[in-house]
Amino acid sequence: MSKRVAILISGGGSNMVALADSMTGDHPARPCLVVSNRPDAGGLEKAAARGIPTAVVDHRPFGKDRPAFEAELTRVLEAADPDIICMAGFMRVLTEGFVTRWQGRMLNIHPSLLPKYRGLDTHARAIEAGDAEHGCTVHEVTLELDGGPILGQAQLPVLPGDTPESLAERLLPMEHRLYPAALRRFAEGDHRRFTLT
Ligand code: GAR
Repeated sequence: MSKRVAILISGGGSNMVALADSMTGDHPARPCLVVSNRPDAGGLEKAAARGIPTAVVDHRPFGKDRPAFEAELTRVLEAADPDIICMAGFMRVLTEGFVTRWQGRMLNIHPSLLPKYRGLDTHARAIEAGDAEHGCTVHEVTLELDGGPILGQAQLPVLPGDTPESLAERLLPMEHRLYPAALRRFAEGDHRRFTLT
């Protein structure tokens, strides 16, 4: 039986699309739900166009009460009964209760070569540091922000004159290759770290 994959988004959802479109044929998983914390996330329409059920759990009415937001998110996720949860541009920091509930089956993509540059503004920080290489990482989500076990990475050179925007533009297509590859391996039970070539 196929593994069920829920995908969490906050924005355009291009990684969500790459994941969803990869789950065909002999792939061991299928998308079961796309959830956004923003009602205006462009990815919601893209998911609906693919026939994937969608849901919105708006974080704003919960104010600073993160556990209450996460309890609602968990309720929505539990109804979809996912085996794997992929965070794909989901821009909320998660607290202990949520992470513990789903640990071991929750993945995230982060636009840096972790452990470098956890958090935000990763492209600008790589340029500022004078790094010759930048990249992206798919990792398991643990309580440590952007700190869980690394599943896969892809690298690209930082070129003279690169801006955060130009780096992001070159990196995104690599994210779209890395995340589906990492999800497929994870769904097959292979948690060994790999580098995309
Ligand atoms: C991606 O670049 C992803 O790596 C990044 O947000 C973008 C989402 O784009 N994620 C983070 O920064 C997580 N901290 P998308 O909505 O088009 O997939």
